[in-house]
Amino acid sequence: MELLDGKLCSEQIRREIKEEVDTIKTSGKRPPHLAAILVGDDGASQNYVSMKVKDCEEVGFGSTLIQFDANVSEEELLNKIAELNADNTIDGFIVQLPLPDHIDDNKVILAIDPKKDVDGFCPENIGKLCLGLPTFVSATPNGIMELLRRYQIKTEGKHCVVLGRSNIVGTPIAILMSRNNDTGNATVTIAHSRTKNLKEICRSADILIVAIGKTKFVTADMVKEGAVVIDVGQTRVPDKSRESGFRNVGDVDFDTVKDKCSFITYVTGGVGPMTRASLLQNTLIANQRR
Ligand code: GUN
Repeated sequence: MELLDGKLCSEQIRREIKEEVDTIKTSGKRPPHLAAILVGDDGASQNYVSMKVKDCEEVGFGSTLIQFDANVSEEELLNKIAELNADNTIDGFIVQLPLPDHIDDNKVILAIDPKKDVDGFCPENIGKLCLGLPTFVSATPNGIMELLRRYQIKTEGKHCVVLGRSNIVGTPIAILMSRNNDTGNATVTIAHSRTKNLKEICRSADILIVAIGKTKFVTADMVKEGAVVIDVGQTRVPDKSRESGFRNVGDVDFDTVKDKCSFITYVTGGVGPMTRASLLQNTLIANQRR
């Protein structure tokens, strides 16, 4: 078994981005600038967003963090999005999900200018992804594809099972894996909560991508010998032995599954850091397009 080390790969990507930023600065141009909107006080979201802002500083991007209370009105949030759409000093921005129940996620996503949608969540960008046109590929699927590329994992003709069908991970990764290009050409099955014979389907996967949001859902009996397993899950569970009071647990039961795999990601050092690196890549692209 070999670990797919997202931490290591993301460090390499950040170095590559920093070099590009240095070139931009040397040529007298404005470096990329990312804004992030955070609504409410969910600990995990706060942590993700603060890491995204820290990443920007590390590679030399500008960054702006905009925080709202959980009870912010939809209108106020939409006004802020309109402001960011019109702000020429900002190349791209994200609205961290999930949002409180009284705010319609879709309304928010539709309000973002597709040219600044570095999360790749807008219909225009998802549509371009489906057509294989240049676009902002949403950060988690892009991070997974980059990890497979950097470890030279062959996807052509392989059976890829995607567990989970969310708009931001399951659906776009299934499209990317099936596309006719170097890191696609897989035969893809999307499995979800209503899938029958889930165990058998997972066991037939050469590449199993798990984004179902249920801790330790995938156990060893669901994994084929020699499979590549990508765990997108990251759920905080209470842990009194930690200073933070919690630990992150993936959707894959790593300890029992790891010995059956050829490659596997580890929850905190796998997909998460790659997602953040992809967001930086998209912000750099947004800056270069402007
Ligand atoms: N919530 C979980 N993942 C993401 C992401 O990639 N982008 C945003 N905006 N919210 C998220």
